[in-house]
Amino acid sequence: METRRDRQDPVGVLDSGIGGISTLQSMARLMPLERFIFYGDLANAPYGTKSTEEVTDCVRRVVRKLTEQRIKALVIACNTATGAAAAVLRRELDIPVVGMEPALKPASELRQDGKILVLATPLTLRQEKFERLMALYGRGAEKVPCPGLMELVEREDDDGAREYLEKLLLTRQDLDRVDAVVLGCTHYVFLKEMIRRMLPEHIAITEGNEGTARQLRRVLEREDLLNPEGPGQITFETSGSPASLEQMRRTFYERRT
Ligand code: DGL
Repeated sequence: METRRDRQDPVGVLDSGIGGISTLQSMARLMPLERFIFYGDLANAPYGTKSTEEVTDCVRRVVRKLTEQRIKALVIACNTATGAAAAVLRRELDIPVVGMEPALKPASELRQDGKILVLATPLTLRQEKFERLMALYGRGAEKVPCPGLMELVEREDDDGAREYLEKLLLTRQDLDRVDAVVLGCTHYVFLKEMIRRMLPEHIAITEGNEGTARQLRRVLEREDLLNPEGPGQITFETSGSPASLEQMRRTFYERRT
């Protein structure tokens, strides 16, 4: 039976950890009157080195917690979880589900004749969904799995992240032939400035947060679910420790993207 949704109901947003908070920032900027409940599944992080089935199970558990709170829409603020579970969730849920994918399309539009490096978790890059995206926009694109990078973002280890990225990117002999770098994991968006400073100026950097925020607004408008009067509100929940809850709050209010 279909449940009646209300414009005042919250939007549920999930990720394995703080990465999705970069997406939440974009959504809250675009729709300041909305109520958002953000769930960071830290007890099960990282998702990107798990199997599709494991991630789908984790995401289902999170979704159950969010739907109990009568969310009017779900945003999977995680490329890995979208690839693993978005199709299943769209079949199972009677609310709109907005997912994310590596921003390869905009990168392909910016590409001259050179390469596109797609930085993402190992699972994202293995998924069928990503293969379909590659078939459409992947000319010149190379998969660059980044196991361990989300953990450095979670630990706010900027020195560790810089070292990781320098090894990954600056040791390449072909950087002059790279046109674009795709940040295909919401955690990496917090490293955008660092990567920008590291790379030659001609290389474009793309990520999906603004596009996801616009997509959510389109969907809410279409379903007549956009909250016209507020007040906006952000709530954080986690399967992790109370300290991680505090870290999520701080990340949202203090860490800029
Ligand atoms: N933030 C997630 C993404 O966009 C993945 C991080 C993880 O490995 O859990 O893919």
